[in-house]
Amino acid sequence: METNYWDKKAPDYDTHRKKSENAYSKLMELIKGECSKSQTFLDIGTGTGEIPIALSNSVKEITAIDFSQEMINIAKLKREKLDINNITFQVQDCYNPSFNDKTFDIITVINLLHLLDKPEQFLNSVKGLLEDNGKLIIPTFLHNHSILTKMFSRVAKLKGHPIVTRFDSKSIIEFITKCGYSLDKSVFIKGAIPILFVVVSKK
Ligand SMILES: C[S@@+](CC[C@H](N)C(=O)[O-])C[C@H]1O[C@@H](n2cnc3c(N)ncnc32)[C@H](O)[C@@H]1O
Repeated sequence: METNYWDKKAPDYDTHRKKSENAYSKLMELIKGECSKSQTFLDIGTGTGEIPIALSNSVKEITAIDFSQEMINIAKLKREKLDINNITFQVQDCYNPSFNDKTFDIITVINLLHLLDKPEQFLNSVKGLLEDNGKLIIPTFLHNHSILTKMFSRVAKLKGHPIVTRFDSKSIIEFITKCGYSLDKSVFIKGAIPILFVVVSKK
């Protein structure tokens, strides 16, 4: 996937994301329910940093990565404006993250999996970064949920949105568990394109 697409989207990304505000606030509530103050946290595909910023008081420290330099620039500006000092933003590709094994208690991957060309390779590499008792939180848009979402999804793809996999509630759990994780929790979040909130741990 081209970084260029996301670099171009970055300036308007927050306005675009507001269309899913209800779903995202439910999502944040669910993520906060999985966190505690002692944890180290990695957010992969962080975009403009809204998720780590909203969680900065709920965890010890957060590293947040994205392969788009423009997204990370915006995230850093927000962090400075809000004077937050426990988040590190870095430009990194999700396929080759440069961290030591077993570094993180919680890894979030929010609405990224359906955009990846090699989601299986990605899930395998992320596993190494998790502590043995760590959790992967991987909420993902369900483009294959209904006839209506399939229609929305096709229109979005025609407009250039880089959707690769159209998941539904069943296929996403099957896919993630097949990659060596066990399911801890899933919660369906309504929306024009619904999201399945999924929490898994290493098998
Ligand atoms: C749909 S946005 C989601 C952003 C954020 N997680 C959210 O939910 O608001 C997808 C993000 O993933 C990033 N991304 C896509 N492919 C990536 C890759 N291979 N490595 C790192 N980031 C990637 C994009 O730059 C974009 O910021």
